[in-house]
Amino acid sequence: MSITGIESLVYGVDDVATATRFFEDFGLPIAGKSEASARFVLAEGSSVVLLHRDDPVLPVTTMVGGGVREIIWGVDSAQALDAYVERLRGVVEVRRDDDGTAHFVAPFGVAMGLRLWRRKPVLYAPDPVNAPGRVNRFNQHRKWRERARPKVISHAVWAIPDFEAGYQFMRDMLDFRLADRQRGVGVYLRADGSNNHHSIFFINANAPTPGMDGQVRFHHANFGVEDIDEIMTGANHMVRKGWEASHWGLGRHRIDSALFYYIPCPAGGEAEYGADSDYIDDSWVPRDWTNPLFGVAHYMHNLPPFLIDAPEWEFRYLTEETATAGGGH
Ligand SMILES: [Fe+2]
Repeated sequence: MSITGIESLVYGVDDVATATRFFEDFGLPIAGKSEASARFVLAEGSSVVLLHRDDPVLPVTTMVGGGVREIIWGVDSAQALDAYVERLRGVVEVRRDDDGTAHFVAPFGVAMGLRLWRRKPVLYAPDPVNAPGRVNRFNQHRKWRERARPKVISHAVWAIPDFEAGYQFMRDMLDFRLADRQRGVGVYLRADGSNNHHSIFFINANAPTPGMDGQVRFHHANFGVEDIDEIMTGANHMVRKGWEASHWGLGRHRIDSALFYYIPCPAGGEAEYGADSDYIDDSWVPRDWTNPLFGVAHYMHNLPPFLIDAPEWEFRYLTEETATAGGGH
């Protein structure tokens, strides 16, 4: 039984028209829109749904600010879905739709759902990379693009006050795996049926960093593209369309090795283009990023003040025992 990824992200937004225009420019394929809502469907079959923040369909939680009001996880079989609901019922209230979709609010204040989902395989074909003495692309230029077209939703991120309790809930109720810990900052968790480095990241809402105020807040969602060229084509298009500029610009995280490009999003939080992340399975050994700043980035275009001094190279591997005991947090 497994959760194979994010089936949909349901946003509550201030202005449906503006948020719709943002995601159209961002490159998500529109499947339908009205004055009150919009729906995008990506190649893998996952959806982004935009509703007005006061829409009665949206769950009410302790989350403050805009962003994703409900994340629906895709489950690979009806039996698995029923089993998860059975498990959850001992801990949270679960409501089921006629189509079997289960809705609940996790104890840490994030509304979630479970839905039977057959994720469509997505096949990318990134251009081979050349280096002196290692020519993988001969007499052949790279793809030229006009737009970015994300095909997958890779992960979503919230700040929550007790990220350890959040980890334990996701592990015990939904079989999520620990991918990495960033000391004092948060935990990266992977759905058991996905090889993405993480499907969800919980940030410590009490961390002494900008934007953290101890409350539940949506932070960002990551949309996967093919490579650095697609990221930057999308980034340039968003600038041409007049959207707020990225603060960090292009960079590469050290945790999960992924290329990133975050853009402030009028639907709430930020929308991230992502490529070339780590893909892992249960043989992955989680790490404890004891110096959290070391984990943030290998490099980035607009170096923020907190990374002007190069961080110490510091992390360790977690044993099973230290992973579950909180990793020395
Ligand atoms: Fe991310």
